[in-house]
Amino acid sequence: MRVLSGIQPTGRFHWGNYFGAIRQYIDLQHGNEAYYFIANLHALTTIRDSAALKQNTIDAALDLLALGLDPAKAVLFVQSDVPEVAELTWLLMSITPMGLLERCVSYKDKVSKGLAADAGLFTYPVLMAADILIYDSEVVPVGADQIQHIEVARDIAGSFNHLFGETFVLPKYKVLENSAKVPGTDGEKMSKSYNNTIEIFEESKAMRKKVMRITTDARPMEQPKPDFENDHLYQLYSLFASDAQRAEMAALYQKGGFGYGQVKTALAEIAEQFFGPFRARRAELAADLGQVEAILADGAARARVKASHTLARAQRACGVRR
Ligand code: ADP
Ligand code: TRP
Repeated sequence: MRVLSGIQPTGRFHWGNYFGAIRQYIDLQHGNEAYYFIANLHALTTIRDSAALKQNTIDAALDLLALGLDPAKAVLFVQSDVPEVAELTWLLMSITPMGLLERCVSYKDKVSKGLAADAGLFTYPVLMAADILIYDSEVVPVGADQIQHIEVARDIAGSFNHLFGETFVLPKYKVLENSAKVPGTDGEKMSKSYNNTIEIFEESKAMRKKVMRITTDARPMEQPKPDFENDHLYQLYSLFASDAQRAEMAALYQKGGFGYGQVKTALAEIAEQFFGPFRARRAELAADLGQVEAILADGAARARVKASHTLARAQRACGVRR
């Protein structure tokens, strides 16, 4: 299967991004033809700091590579390094009804809050459709919040095929497991917009500090806690734990007589064991940015081969290539 997904470089990746998305992208690189890109053109709809966008883009590449994205298995590239995608966006925009985009939540939410939206935000789903269609992607793994955008891509592909003849593969989404479930330090969904994240590559001391500040309820130590599955501290611990460790922690909650501090210490430890080796790998990569740039350049070159074929096919179909 040809699998594709993009992730925006809008800040350092956190545990939610890892368990809800990145880990699954890495799993999907086995046995599939996988394309993953850093969506810097989409990030431009929110980031207005040139140096920050550049830095975030490199950080995203370092994070993904350190976490196990293997450039020998998957094609890793930066969205803007494939200019064909911007060209295809225009062709798609020309046949996209305004109404389709007016229904998209990212735009609708902003307007309903009385905020001024840019044309980039409005047409964001068309760029995303071009991202998907240009690689003839069959499956697009995404979080639940992105399903609507894949449906838009399918709609646009269907209309184009209908108007100009079979040109694009109709993509399907694959909803990532737990894509909305990793709780933050306050028990709400972990998200950089809520300021409740723990970053994947946080230094161990800073990470421990954040873990120790995770909110807990005020129930006394003695009290058994049979509703442990709803406890965000337990949920976070479970992300890292083996079945045996999880069962042991569940038994502790059911029995009572423990302090949340004890669980936090266990969480900090298990998270450190889990991410520690990735941190070491990241430091090695960061010491040789030339190698990382070479990986991205190679990824873009491979992506452009595919992208230029699809773009030419679409251009011929609609009559702008003779
Ligand atoms: P944020 O909410 O921090 O801005 P993004 O929307 O950039 O994160 O997340 C990129 C992807 O990471 C999402 O589409 C989703 O799949 C995953 N993700 C983000 N937050 C979480 C979370 N708390 N739990 C599970 N998955 C998440
Ligand atoms: N919009 C996606 C997000 O915010 C990122 C993205 C851009 C993407 N282009 C894509 C995801 C194409 C999948 C396919 O998460």
